Amino acid sequence: MIQIHRMGSELSFGPCPPEEFSGRLDERKKLYEVLRGAKDRGRVVMVSGGRGSGKSSFLDWAESEIQNESGEFKCPAIKVQFLETPGMVFTAYRDLLTDLKGHQKFGWFRKSLENSKVRTSIDAALTILEKTSSLAALYTPGVNAGVAVAKGLTSSDSFDYTKLISAFLHIFRSVSEDLAERDQFFAILLDDVQLSSDTDFRLMNDLIQSLPVGIVLITAFRREADYYEKHAKLQGELLRYDHTEIVLGGMDEAGVEEFAKLRYNLSIDDKTAKHLSEKIGDPLCLVGCFNRLQNRGLPPTLESFQEILPQCLDHAQCLYTGLDQIWQDRINSLCILDPPLFLSIISCMLGEKNITRLKDEFDQSHVFRRLDREKYEFAHPSLREYRRKGW
Ligand SMILES: Nc1ncnc2c1ncn2[C@@H]1O[C@H](COP(=O)(O)OP(=O)(O)OP(=O)(O)O)[C@@H](O)[C@H]1O
Ligand SMILES: [Mg+2]
Repeated sequence: MIQIHRMGSELSFGPCPPEEFSGRLDERKKLYEVLRGAKDRGRVVMVSGGRGSGKSSFLDWAESEIQNESGEFKCPAIKVQFLETPGMVFTAYRDLLTDLKGHQKFGWFRKSLENSKVRTSIDAALTILEKTSSLAALYTPGVNAGVAVAKGLTSSDSFDYTKLISAFLHIFRSVSEDLAERDQFFAILLDDVQLSSDTDFRLMNDLIQSLPVGIVLITAFRREADYYEKHAKLQGELLRYDHTEIVLGGMDEAGVEEFAKLRYNLSIDDKTAKHLSEKIGDPLCLVGCFNRLQNRGLPPTLESFQEILPQCLDHAQCLYTGLDQIWQDRINSLCILDPPLFLSIISCMLGEKNITRLKDEFDQSHVFRRLDREKYEFAHPSLREYRRKGW
């Protein structure tokens, strides 16, 4: 379970807790329409937008909404994330199958998974994935070597891509029959698809082409110059199979007003909301802006926002300039590592001997978030990415 931290009245830069997810009414409505149609055919949704536009938060909200036992759907959902780490081929799919195998939330779904044919297919797919990941890991010292290896593996005898895709489709089809009988669906949420290796991306596209009734794939894709080609390709596939793209732009006035209320318990007037929506709009910068307001103890008036606005227009600036020197230095030292970061390595990198105190500080910080007992991740990937690129 990911920890959400508050430091004083400042918020973490991490994804928004579902109950505080604000605005985005049209986008939420669009997703609901797609989900209602999942009983007729397999559905794919790409949630796209720039850095910090709220894609991961949207996915978290969608996952919680789909599984909500007093909501409309009451359906199972599993969310996984693609990581930037070179050599991490198929890791996201392995996580997906492992989570699927251990699924506990809905008894009826667990029963469908206990079907011996489904179990056998999950195990067969996991065996192939584990073999491939370990072979790819042997080559990780070279940048992107894992990707190259997996590419090679797709054509070698040691890795049978056809077997892998057919195991996946077999799992989906078996589960789909049970889902259709119950008029329900199973949602798979894939975050940061832009970071997927070529092999991972190929598998996703192949699955999209044959997605059976009752399986919903919700993907998040960051639109950025480095990934334009990949985005266009996925967009083309969605068009071809009549699927949906939900684009997250800036927050509108009503969204900003709700954001202030739900996230900071602040009431702002219409004029201020309009100003923030027009000048910032982007949720990541809004978090930076409101954190700065809280940090400086200013009232939530138009004048206060006008005063701090110049430091909140740019992601990199709004993420760092509000931080204490100690946290800026810590980010600087740790940005060369790829998450998840282990506490023992963090303490070594920072030269901090008192691990208990360090753990406490990291647990309280809104710059890092704890993934596991001793594993941390930057609260937002931009904290690492900008620093690494030498901002
Ligand atoms: N609708 C929303 N309501 C409230 N807060 C939001 C909303 N959307 C995003 N946020 C906040 O904005 C920041 C950026 O959101 P998030 O990390 O979800 O963006 P992202 O699009 O996934 O970014 P990236 O492209 O870097 O992965 C987070 O601090 C999050 O809590
Ligand atoms: Mg994200």
